[in-house]
Amino acid sequence: MRKIAVLTSGGDAPGMNAAVRAVVRRGIFLGMEVFGVHHGYDGLIKGQIEPMNLGSVGDIIHRGGTILYSSRSKEFMTREGQDQAITRMKSKGIEGLIVIGGDGSFRGAQKLVEKGFPTIGIPGTIDNDIPGTDMTLGFDTAVNTVIEAIDKIRDTANSHERTFVVEVMGRNHGDIALWAGLTGGAESILIPEEPYEIDRIVQRLTEGSNRGKKYSIIVVAEGVCSGALICDEIKQRTGFDTRVTVLGHVQRGGSPSAFDRMIGSRFGARAVDLLHEGKQGLMVGMQHNQIVEVDFDQVFAGEVTLDLELYELSKSLSI
Ligand code: ADP
Ligand code: F6P
Repeated sequence: MRKIAVLTSGGDAPGMNAAVRAVVRRGIFLGMEVFGVHHGYDGLIKGQIEPMNLGSVGDIIHRGGTILYSSRSKEFMTREGQDQAITRMKSKGIEGLIVIGGDGSFRGAQKLVEKGFPTIGIPGTIDNDIPGTDMTLGFDTAVNTVIEAIDKIRDTANSHERTFVVEVMGRNHGDIALWAGLTGGAESILIPEEPYEIDRIVQRLTEGSNRGKKYSIIVVAEGVCSGALICDEIKQRTGFDTRVTVLGHVQRGGSPSAFDRMIGSRFGARAVDLLHEGKQGLMVGMQHNQIVEVDFDQVFAGEVTLDLELYELSKSLSI
């Protein structure tokens, strides 16, 4: 394979640039020509495909977001859109594609594979909700962003002796809430994977207050319900001065952590190697600190899991 392309799709995630850099540099290292597609699948359909060189990925390893821009493309969901995308790539002599994105982006990538166009996926999403990899690109940075925010909220919560509800992202998955809640020292963590009892939360808050606790932090995953709802409920039942903070898209930005730069670099290089070896229809991932390749079909059939041991640990440490 002599010419390959790379695109970023779906929600952006810190570390995507590190992966783009690795794809371009590894490709050139192996004697390939590498193209960057702007605006994800939308740009692929429109032919927004530019040649990249060593310099075009200089000074980006530390930047959040994606220099290639991202999109959610309705047109690519159609057969015509997918055919047009392949035509655009073939017209430039491109023989293989690397898609950096989430589960939805991989479903799109699989469509290209079914049409005979070699494609490899790199899991990039802050949600850590892709089967077949222990970590997705961007998750570590997002968790660090959340705990930085929680640390700041602690200061004001302490000063005013308030209860704070912090709503975090993650779609239907609770990993951001769990990791940030545990490492941020939250009193309660609400995740979609486990039922919660508001009575129990209120009881713990009251007990804590009776013991002299000045403030409490409750982390709520967006997949459970809105943080505002939990905040109102707590306010009503306890009479405590309670506030809600919705962290929102702040969690998607910022300079990637060392960990995300590392897996971005490793994922990017392996993805290129796979295309170079003539492989396709695979996602690269990380299992027990080893870079692995997982069939798209296995990814789609897999279950998004959450480490319930961590959840139990968080409960025993927040008494
Ligand atoms: P993510 O990759 O972060 O999960 P989305 O679910 O929004 O984000 O998917 C990104 C894009 O991937 C969509 O906008 C669409 O263009 C493409 N895509 C998603 N699902 C499919 C599908 N079943 N067939 C073809 N393309 C898809
Ligand atoms: O998948 C990443 C994510 O940030 C989710 O955590 C969140 O629910 C969603 O994307 C937000 O999407 P949008 O960028 O469309 O607001």
